[in-house]
Amino acid sequence: MAEIDRYRPEDRRAVEALYRRVFGHDAAESSRLRWEWQYRRNPNNPGHEPEIWIAREGPAIIGQYATMPVKLSVAGRQVQASWGMDVMVAPERQRQGLGEMLFRTWDRNVGASLGLGLSESSYRLFQKLRWPDVGPVPCFVKPLTRRAFRRPNWPVGLNRLVSALTLPVVKIVARTRPLAAEVRMIDRFDDSFTVLWEELAPKFDLAVRRDAAYLNWKYVHAPHVRYSIAALRRDEQHVGYAVYRHLHEPRGRVTLLVDFLADPADEPGFATLLHWVDREARNADSDKIRGFAMHAGFRRILRRSGYFQVKSSLEFVVKVNGVDLEPSFYDTTDNWHVTLGDSDQDR
Ligand SMILES: CC(C)(COP(=O)(O)OP(=O)(O)OC[C@H]1O[C@@H](n2cnc3c(N)ncnc32)[C@H](O)[C@@H]1OP(=O)(O)O)[C@@H](O)C(=O)NCCC(=O)NCCS
Repeated sequence: MAEIDRYRPEDRRAVEALYRRVFGHDAAESSRLRWEWQYRRNPNNPGHEPEIWIAREGPAIIGQYATMPVKLSVAGRQVQASWGMDVMVAPERQRQGLGEMLFRTWDRNVGASLGLGLSESSYRLFQKLRWPDVGPVPCFVKPLTRRAFRRPNWPVGLNRLVSALTLPVVKIVARTRPLAAEVRMIDRFDDSFTVLWEELAPKFDLAVRRDAAYLNWKYVHAPHVRYSIAALRRDEQHVGYAVYRHLHEPRGRVTLLVDFLADPADEPGFATLLHWVDREARNADSDKIRGFAMHAGFRRILRRSGYFQVKSSLEFVVKVNGVDLEPSFYDTTDNWHVTLGDSDQDR
């Protein structure tokens, strides 16, 4: 009979071996590089004890649920929540109810349990256990060159034809626009960003608390990727930020708009940040910019700034336990703020 309890330091090697069996060598290596930062240095993990649940059978480890604690602002309250991330069950023990035990143990211990960008098997299990399904988080793409519309699974001829046909559209949306407020690159988030978060939090019905400690951990100290951070300033104060990075994909170069914050009603402000990212993306020779946004205000400004909504695979489930909410809370997500930077999606 399996037992579920918390991760202990001596579990590390057995967990790594199981991870390799379930997710493969490359994923295991990249998880190993992130591990200390991801599980021990999270500022929302006060005792620095990883919030990981382990399924044991005698001395053997047959499953885990590794999570990322965050403070979640929900309908004006703050709850201790966590993103469920690396969940796995030993292949020979799958579909025997262990996953369900892990999901339920995690959920019983948090004020809100959140899942983003799920695999087919975990998405099905969340559905079976009736977690509210509020996704996917809408995906937006802004084309910058005619290569933006290429698809890795299309033949070269078709890609060329589509590039030629879409060129006029690209020329219009990709034109340079003037910046309406001051934007500065920063190396780290100072305390003024905590103040900004406190000011903006009431605007969101649901969002992870983006204070300076969280932002520095997530976007300045991440060991596996390097981010650029642009701060939006007005009247000598920080009124927003955007976090982005450039990468190569099989059919071209992409700038990822990973995370951002501004008043969603401040169209000139958020649009200025977007125009800044446009310039950076062009300087980096990117063919397109891709970002994810849930809030209706941000989505509108993205569309007005030349982004197109495309099919999203960023599934999102959330179950709030720590605050009494009407079931209808999950029906209206227009004021929720969720981006690609949430959970550990940008690996
Ligand atoms: C996700 C996972 C942890 C579930 O663990 P489990 O012990 O198999 O889950 P349970 O036995 O408690 O629940 C089984 C339910 O999960 C879902 N499920 C599990 N594996 C599935 C699969 N391969 N395809 C579709 N649904 C699946 C189904 O809803 C299933 O119910 P059913 O058997 O009645 O159809 C396990 O499948 C796993 O390790 N998957 C590989 C790693 C992974 O994808 N992790 C998620 C990363 S986001």
